[in-house]
Amino acid sequence: MEDEKKFLAAVVGAGPAGLFAARELATHGVEVALINRDIKPGGLAEYGIFPDKLKMKEGLRAQFRQILQLPQVHYYGNVIVGRKGDLNLEDFWELGFQSVLITVGAQGTKWLGLPGERQTGVYHAKDLVYHYNSLPPYSEQEFKIGKRVAVVGIGNVMVDITHYLIAYHQVDEVIAVARRGPGEIKFEKKEFADVAANLDLEHFDREIEAAAEQMRALGQNPEEPKNMVYSVVQKAEPRKGDTRFIIRFMVSPVRILGENGQVTGLEVEKNELYLQDGHVRARGTGQREVLDVDTVIFAIGDSVDEHVGLPTRGTEFVKNRNPRFPVEGISYEVYDEAAGKPVEGVFVAGWARKASTGLVGVARRDGINGAKAVLQYLNTLQPLDEASQGLKRLEDLLRSREKVFITLDDLLCLEEMEKQRAEELGLAWYKFATNRDMLQAMGYTSLPESRS
Ligand SMILES: Cc1cc2nc3c(=O)[nH]c(=O)nc-3n(C[C@H](O)[C@H](O)[C@H](O)COP(=O)(O)OP(=O)(O)OC[C@H]3O[C@@H](n4cnc5c(N)ncnc54)[C@H](O)[C@@H]3O)c2cc1C
Ligand SMILES: NC(=O)c1ccc[n+]([C@@H]2O[C@H](COP(=O)([O-])OP(=O)(O)OC[C@H]3O[C@@H](n4cnc5c(N)ncnc54)[C@H](OP(=O)(O)O)[C@@H]3O)[C@@H](O)[C@H]2O)c1
Repeated sequence: MEDEKKFLAAVVGAGPAGLFAARELATHGVEVALINRDIKPGGLAEYGIFPDKLKMKEGLRAQFRQILQLPQVHYYGNVIVGRKGDLNLEDFWELGFQSVLITVGAQGTKWLGLPGERQTGVYHAKDLVYHYNSLPPYSEQEFKIGKRVAVVGIGNVMVDITHYLIAYHQVDEVIAVARRGPGEIKFEKKEFADVAANLDLEHFDREIEAAAEQMRALGQNPEEPKNMVYSVVQKAEPRKGDTRFIIRFMVSPVRILGENGQVTGLEVEKNELYLQDGHVRARGTGQREVLDVDTVIFAIGDSVDEHVGLPTRGTEFVKNRNPRFPVEGISYEVYDEAAGKPVEGVFVAGWARKASTGLVGVARRDGINGAKAVLQYLNTLQPLDEASQGLKRLEDLLRSREKVFITLDDLLCLEEMEKQRAEELGLAWYKFATNRDMLQAMGYTSLPESRS
């Protein structure tokens, strides 16, 4: 009902966390503006999950569509929130919004600060993932992938990158580089199945053997990771190509070598393992070697984007340690350490709360819980007589800034156009890979655009 009293809230970021947060708010008396940097919703569910997981992606898209069709959820795609964005946090208060939930994911890239990191052939996994999933502007960026690639990190992202290098580039060798031992493998069995057939098992056995004594000294059983990997290899899909895949344990990158700005090797230091506060840690032994690679990809997790305009520390936005509105003991409140108080009305959830943590289901739950924290906060305020007026003011402001914002109707049109194009080309799916093409497909021919 138009004249019903409601709260007015913004959710910034329409990945799984933001979408499910929007649903939670919308079903509890809140009019929600869901603002998203990308034209399409879904975040890493659309632009991170490996392209061949078609069924999973379609299932998620269907859930997201249902949320966007809720009458209290209003989608504004192609709109960046941040210091230099199309909107900043101050704008929301001026427009009459009562709270802002930030669910922008972890858009910053985490680097090790090594000599040689800026050379051609050194990339961050997330940028490459966005590239092969056709997210503008990464879709148009050139990635020079050679024949011998080091991937730093041994989580699920390393597996996805290795899968991509095998299936799309048929590289000669992928070397996954792990600073700790086989006991600290982060990838999951199910994901590893995509690359397991390419693993050089003789090399893997030698690596386990080399780590075994140290593992036993720490109370670890070297047979456990070995059996885990072998159980996947036995059931793995047939090899997708001739790429040799090896994992080097207990080495840390120290320098990227190059000639004429192009990578020629990765220097690593051998580590030894030790226990500290019950955690297995690695320290350098001083012994170095050079891995013969021409490409280095960091798959070591991401950090939040400091341009959003929230206080950050390390790879995270700063949260209130003593939350006023905790949910399951977790703080969703942004905290300004300089001012010594929470940032009034501003909350974080999903990968924006804890960078690079968990699957879609985890982000969904965190989004819902973040929304519950927002609801507790809103209930300390008065609902508005005409919450929808705030949405009108938001649209007027975006128009006055000549910003093309994408609505649900636009998205449905885009979906139809991509489906048609896939049929014409006889493909299982088709994605327009630039904002220009997407905007054109939706009929925006003369309006300005900010990205790509
Ligand atoms: C390579 C990779 C593969 C993965 N594969 C799987 C998988 O197979 N299965 C699985 O369950 N999980 C997978 N995950 C994990 C899953 O994708 C994440 O858990 C989940 O997407 C995180 O959700 P989120 O909403 O917190 O952030 P994101 O999904 O990152 O969404 C953030 C949203 O915020 C928007 N945004 C960013 N900055 C701004 C801004 N300044 N202003 C406005 N909007 C902004 C973005 O456009 C995006 O839509 C994968 C992750 C990665 C990195
Ligand atoms: N298909 C899927 O389901 C899928 C695909 C991709 C991602 N995801 C999910 O997305 C999340 C993020 O994945 P992720 O692979 O980025 O993270 P992750 O699982 O945390 O793995 C990160 C890897 O990087 C290493 N690392 C971190 N900092 C380092 C440093 N300073 N120096 C050297 N190595 C470093 C870690 O080693 P240490 O252990 O020593 O810290 C670890 O091996 C996970 O929850 C994952 O499950 C899921």
